[in-house]
Amino acid sequence: MNVFLVGGGGREHTLADAISRSPFLTSLYCAPGNAGIAQVAECVDIGAEDLDDLHIFAAENDIDLTVIGPERPLIRGLADRLRADGMLVYGPSAAAARLEGSKAFTNEILENCNLTSKSFVVLDDPDEAKSYIREHGAPIVVKADGDAFGKGVKVCSSVGEAEDAVDAIMVRRDFGAAGDRVVIEECLFGEECTIKVFTDGTTVLPMVPSQDHKRIGEGDTGPNTGGMGCYSPVPAVDDALQERIVNTIVAPTVEAMAEEGSAYSGTLYAGCILTDDGPELIEYNCRFGDPETQVVIPRLETDLLEVLVATAQGNLDSIELSWSDRAAACVVVASEGYPGSYEKGKKITGLDEAEADELVKVYHAGTAVEDGQYYTAGGRVLGVTGLGSDYDDAFDRAYAAIEKIHFEGMYCRADIGWRARSGFDDR
Ligand code: AMP
Ligand code: GLY
Repeated sequence: MNVFLVGGGGREHTLADAISRSPFLTSLYCAPGNAGIAQVAECVDIGAEDLDDLHIFAAENDIDLTVIGPERPLIRGLADRLRADGMLVYGPSAAAARLEGSKAFTNEILENCNLTSKSFVVLDDPDEAKSYIREHGAPIVVKADGDAFGKGVKVCSSVGEAEDAVDAIMVRRDFGAAGDRVVIEECLFGEECTIKVFTDGTTVLPMVPSQDHKRIGEGDTGPNTGGMGCYSPVPAVDDALQERIVNTIVAPTVEAMAEEGSAYSGTLYAGCILTDDGPELIEYNCRFGDPETQVVIPRLETDLLEVLVATAQGNLDSIELSWSDRAAACVVVASEGYPGSYEKGKKITGLDEAEADELVKVYHAGTAVEDGQYYTAGGRVLGVTGLGSDYDDAFDRAYAAIEKIHFEGMYCRADIGWRARSGFDDR
């Protein structure tokens, strides 16, 4: 098969690496890719949001399957365009990707199907939004409805803060059209966890659980990032909890999407809060997580390409997933300054030495290569994944590998996995 992968981060390097090992693969192309992906695929110089050129490339290169990594092209309808041309695609349609692209849509689906007990309102007028906030008091959560680069959610501890959030989203238009409407939501309390599944719109096959660390600083402090590290399995998410979330939230959502004519096909990622009254959904993502993919896919023993094709063809019921019992730990190595501004073009050394341990894989996120030499080219530069018999073994391998890597201003958190390793997650 000829496979075309869209995206160029750590998630896509992980997918590319797994796809490249499939016996069914003939050629793998990736747009735009990165220096790591270039080791296993032919990188094509087209941006992941350049829908026209992506469409042309897929049509002209005898592509049998297109796999779309990031949310933007999905929300904007790349999968629809390719399917309209008769192509096989892994990833949801724009209508289905509304589960990530519109928080109002998601909440309405949840409410219509009795899948939530949280109270919320969707409003398009800032004055009405503020009076709702004054009426309900704080803490309260204000969300831009649309795609706001993951920054459109404000958990507000006072009424004033919530009113300011409404102004920022709806009046100042910090996130553009994503702020046409706001969702104002009851503030929920509890441990957060994520559940990810493969679904073809009918069959739902859960992936192994994983947990990421979003904050830049140790002890989970400081500004939010795209994710500084991750581990799998997750002690807090045992089989029973996973099954409960899949059966009471995720599978009914998939069913509801099919019923309303927007069948969901691809990866569905559910972010939940475990409240005293049970799990509540706080967000859906319409794609694999990054860096969650870097710990989930290395544990998949089934051929990934086979799973992606079966999902895209609507035959997921023919697949039985097999997962390794090993623990996986991924530590993200970032540029100094991230998630704020940072410099690029720093020479990276030690990558081969880091991968000398066969249970370590260095996934590239923001890298470039020139004359065989690797350079930094992004905020999150690498995701170093270690596999092991338990968390300690997996993390020790990941951190030992990182010791061998060097670039100027290199930063990683030393405490990734602390909750799982200390047993804090156990319940
Ligand atoms: P999201 O961008 O939807 O993942 O939201 C970002 C973060 O906001 C989540 O990881 C939660 O920590 C928090 N959050 C979102 N919705 C709520 C809610 N209803 N109650 C409490 N925290 C929330
Ligand atoms: N790591 C969180 C995400 O991919 O959205």
